[in-house]
Amino acid sequence: MTEMMGHHAIVTGAGSGAGEAIALSLAARGARVTAIGRRAAPLEALAEANDRIVAMPADVTNREELDAAIARAIERNGAPTIVVANAGSAESAPFLRTDVDLFRSTLDVNLTGVFNTFQAGFSKMNQTQPGRLIAIASTAGLKGYGYVSAYCAAKHGVVGLVRSLAQELARTGVTVNAICPGFTETPMLWRSIDNIVEKTGRSREEAEASLRNVNPQGRFIQPDEIAETVVWLCSDAAASVTGQAISLSGGET
Ligand SMILES: NC(=O)c1ccc[n+]([C@@H]2O[C@H](COP(=O)([O-])OP(=O)(O)OC[C@H]3O[C@@H](n4cnc5c(N)ncnc54)[C@H](OP(=O)(O)O)[C@@H]3O)[C@@H](O)[C@H]2O)c1
Repeated sequence: MTEMMGHHAIVTGAGSGAGEAIALSLAARGARVTAIGRRAAPLEALAEANDRIVAMPADVTNREELDAAIARAIERNGAPTIVVANAGSAESAPFLRTDVDLFRSTLDVNLTGVFNTFQAGFSKMNQTQPGRLIAIASTAGLKGYGYVSAYCAAKHGVVGLVRSLAQELARTGVTVNAICPGFTETPMLWRSIDNIVEKTGRSREEAEASLRNVNPQGRFIQPDEIAETVVWLCSDAAASVTGQAISLSGGET
């Protein structure tokens, strides 16, 4: 599947960061890509930059909206063969200031959003052909971090969903995996750094270094590293890789 001509990939959260890199990498290999996110403008800019990419604004927490966007995408590009549930958001708060609304909305985007995307996409796949369901989880799906209990709970949930679904679909042609990046240089990271500066009074350099040094390699993961892992998971070489949570973190434990 590395030569992706004839494939149709659905990528959520494609308007920025990792999702944008994933959409561009898949399109560069010949796949048709449906780019989903809430804001139309960044999706349209992406579609203008590459004519294999189609912008389909939708909120992954709204199942009706998502189903309608995927139905329109199928009319244009045929049944999906690759579904990448990448949309997510991270808000930090100490546990006692994490009210139930923040907890629910965090689970809604990061966990129910993956459920919605996988179910909506998988139901339209030709399940006898090779297919790929890939979630962009996080190292927060594999270990705990302070001040992001809701986000960690959601991302651990994503890893559980992937492991379960991989077992259920093992006899189909469809594999199911999670990619678990550490801190990655995207708008989400920049917002986290701004937040640390605002809440702790530390300088930007200090805030940045504190996150960079969580990675034993002392660097941030790049969006292209996530995108190339998606491309590898889509290759024939990865046909027996399923139910895995692949850590891209410079060895973080
Ligand atoms: N950056 C990191 O350090 C890091 C580390 C590990 C894992 N991750 C994960 O990587 C994924 C991509 O994040 P990123 O770092 O690339 O951050 P990002 O640039 O903020 O991208 C997140 C994307 O998700 C979209 N999105 C958010 N809520 C949505 C919703 N309800 N429906 C549809 N789209 C939605 C956003 O677009 P709209 O606002 O237009 O909807 C945005 O394009 C996320 O799942 C994140 O949790 C990030």
